[in-house]
Amino acid sequence: MTAVDGMARPTSTRRLSGQLTATGTPATIDRSTLAGLTVRCMDCGTVSPGDQPISHCPACGGLLDAVIDAGPVSPADLGQGITPALAHSGVWRYRPLLPAIPEAAIVSRGEGNTPLYVDDRLAHYAGLGAGQFGVKHEGANPTGSFKDRGMTVGVSHAVAVGAKVVACASTGNTSASLASYAAAAGLPAMVLVPEGKISAGKLAQTIAYGAKVVQIEGDFDIALRLLRELTASYDVYLTNSVNPFRPEGQKTIMFELFEQLGWDVPDVITVPGGNLGNTAAFGKAIEEAFAAGLIARKPRLMTIQAEGASPFYRYFASGWQRFEPMHAETVATAIKIGDPVSTPRARRTIEATNGYVTMVTDAEILDAKAMIDAAGIGCEPASAASLAGARKLIAEGIIGPDDTVVGILTGNVLKDTEAITRYHLDGDASGQPHANANRPIRIEATIDALARLLDDVIITGPTVSGDDPASTL
Ligand code: F0G
Repeated sequence: MTAVDGMARPTSTRRLSGQLTATGTPATIDRSTLAGLTVRCMDCGTVSPGDQPISHCPACGGLLDAVIDAGPVSPADLGQGITPALAHSGVWRYRPLLPAIPEAAIVSRGEGNTPLYVDDRLAHYAGLGAGQFGVKHEGANPTGSFKDRGMTVGVSHAVAVGAKVVACASTGNTSASLASYAAAAGLPAMVLVPEGKISAGKLAQTIAYGAKVVQIEGDFDIALRLLRELTASYDVYLTNSVNPFRPEGQKTIMFELFEQLGWDVPDVITVPGGNLGNTAAFGKAIEEAFAAGLIARKPRLMTIQAEGASPFYRYFASGWQRFEPMHAETVATAIKIGDPVSTPRARRTIEATNGYVTMVTDAEILDAKAMIDAAGIGCEPASAASLAGARKLIAEGIIGPDDTVVGILTGNVLKDTEAITRYHLDGDASGQPHANANRPIRIEATIDALARLLDDVIITGPTVSGDDPASTL
């Protein structure tokens, strides 16, 4: 120690007690503290211990749900009996409704606590009146997507069961989130991504957080199949949403939304559907919040897929008669998924909430995104399916004119900047500007040109326009 002023500093250093519980060193957990963790097969009902990595039913191979038996829960119980840091997490404050993972294993980045924006411009665009439409913005999470809510539970469970390596297949957001939480936990992470098919920002984020990125010559569905095969015989912890613990964190999007509404619910919730983890988790959350007495009625859950990646919509439209995986193609790369693993769990949600499933075109997604962006909120393309879908279902009369609707925005505007510049700067296939394009203006560097621009365009011109004002100057 250097004593600049000739005096030694005190030997006991004060320590910050911050919000983050990330230590960078995996905790060692006594297995006997994991007895409260159990999972149940949704097909055959077999209950299995959750004190180990487990992603399918050992008896029949079916999908698993974490068993939550909360009993009655009152709002006053939330955030109680845990450290202040965890009580500030928008996931862990709902601990009575989450799996009993020991606190010492929890890896949290203070996720959740995301805003609910009620915006009348968006309500109008959707076809509703003032105060009837809101968006819950999951892009405000630490790595910019809703995945952090699931990942804090998934990675905490991985730490609890002593995992040595964590892994996922991803269209970019799960990989960024896993990379961050694995780094926080001090665990090595391996992520499989479809080569050339995820946004540059998500790829960069995943690389930056230090995960080993494996680019697969194939799409997301192939990458996930490959990883499930690997984790079946190697000691690698799978964090995709087939893992029954990860969706538990995603349930808190619903809990937090209901809490923000004073423990009331909107009539309808719209959510983009890809691998269908959210659709599955939201249904479980609604059932559990209702059973615990936190809400008195259930909202209808409506899943919106991209037209080019719509196997769940087609399954729904067939009256649940035929499920056929498809080759997925959409501008919304996050939901470019043709064989969603949570399909049976998601069907359960739609049936239990009197829900609905629809699909929207890429053009509808991008126009809705431009509206959300221009409202100052911003989101990535996949997220905008929630507004585009609400608009379509209102026009079709599936959502009633007096309904209140909340759309879930799943990812941040900066997640896919290529999509923004393509939409605003490039024209559509026939060279015409997109409906809500907002092109930057180029002028010569003179005060006259700038003043003319101010008069002709900024003050009198449209705020969002497909015109190219520069051409008129
Ligand atoms: N929106 C965004 C921004 C996503 O990243 C995803 C999924 C979804 C919606 C669909 O959610 O799978 O629960 O139906 N992204 C995954 C990933 C597949 O790897 O990041 P889902």
